Amino acid sequence: MKEPKTYRVVVVGMGKRGMHHAAAFAANSRFELVGICDIDQKRLDDAEKRLNDASAKPGGVRASTKAESLTLELKPDLFCFCTLPNLRLPFITLGIESGAKLIAFEKPVAMSSAEGMAMKQALDAAGTKAVVSHQHRYGEHYKKVKSIIASGAIGQVHTVYGTATGWAAHMLSHLVDYTSWFNDYAPAEWVMAQAAGRGKLADLHTSPDYVAGVVHYANGVRGVYDCGAGAPDVPEASAWWRKCRIGAMGSAGYAEVQTGGGWRSVTKDGVASGPGNMDYDHDMPVYVQEMADWLDDDRRPHPCAFDHAYHGLQIMSGMYRSVVEGGQIALPLASGMDEIAALKARVPDRKVLMTLADSAKEYKE
Ligand SMILES: NC(=O)c1ccc[n+]([C@@H]2O[C@H](COP(=O)([O-])OP(=O)(O)OC[C@H]3O[C@@H](n4cnc5c(N)ncnc54)[C@H](O)[C@@H]3O)[C@@H](O)[C@H]2O)c1
Repeated sequence: MKEPKTYRVVVVGMGKRGMHHAAAFAANSRFELVGICDIDQKRLDDAEKRLNDASAKPGGVRASTKAESLTLELKPDLFCFCTLPNLRLPFITLGIESGAKLIAFEKPVAMSSAEGMAMKQALDAAGTKAVVSHQHRYGEHYKKVKSIIASGAIGQVHTVYGTATGWAAHMLSHLVDYTSWFNDYAPAEWVMAQAAGRGKLADLHTSPDYVAGVVHYANGVRGVYDCGAGAPDVPEASAWWRKCRIGAMGSAGYAEVQTGGGWRSVTKDGVASGPGNMDYDHDMPVYVQEMADWLDDDRRPHPCAFDHAYHGLQIMSGMYRSVVEGGQIALPLASGMDEIAALKARVPDRKVLMTLADSAKEYKE
């Protein structure tokens, strides 16, 4: 039998998420980690040592502080970048230029609808596959909730909802992606939202401290999102970043996952619950394996394919535009804009009201 192809990978950004990705690629026999990059020499050296110590592969990984020359020289099959959100379009362009067949990168997709549209146009024109890391969905508690909803046990879904204590540039795309998954990725037709708190408008994960809004999906399902300092507590989850409640309500009950607190459901068969906590070590291996599956076979698109994440970016951008312009915003957006710049001019200069006393350590401004 023919040996399956091994895909050569370059990973740029050796921070927390870059190391997760690089380690997962290095541990999977369908991939060969050929290059790593970080502008921080110490981080790069530490990563190189750790990855070469962990890998049995001869030759080791090539390390460089220069993403462009490394990637254009190595011409990987898969280009992965895990930099902070200020760097998206330039690395999509580099990945395409290098000839990579798949580009894997981190949420949030982009910092504006204008950048997201430019990324989509570039990917579509080149025919390059892309995957965005909404990998929490691989958690057993997430999969359990999806299976309950898909089985029909909560009846006809009428509402999906997501709350998170962390601010939108970190958390909102997760909330929108998993609720869209629960709603079978029905397209969104309009959104309406409000926002408060300017502190995180100065962060590299740039967003208001708090945004809340509603989404109308084409299948009649209502999405309700509540993200940041004003979001309700999730007492079942002790870790601050994992205080996320993501679920669906239907004609016969509800089912929800809490990122750091397991899952719950009430259906006609009764009340049920189970454990679960987001776990990178559990989620990353299957997330990268499914990249190999998609590279092998166009008929096996990755569940975190760019199209899903782009749908979420349109919803996030629409919520921000509703804050800026008022009223409902029709989706898909007809043209791009820099929503963050507009929010900086629009969000009132009043300190955000926090739901949790513990949030004061994050929302200081
Ligand atoms: N999917 C998830 O569960 C999850 C969890 C945490 C963070 N994230 C996302 O992952 C991304 C990265 O976050 P992180 O926590 O790993 O950040 P980090 O700060 O730990 O790492 C980013 C790294 O990129 C490097 N870098 C910056 N510019 C570079 C350049 N031009 N070339 C090469 N390297 C460069 C930095 O030196 C740094 O080491 C963010 O978008 C964040 O939102 C996702």
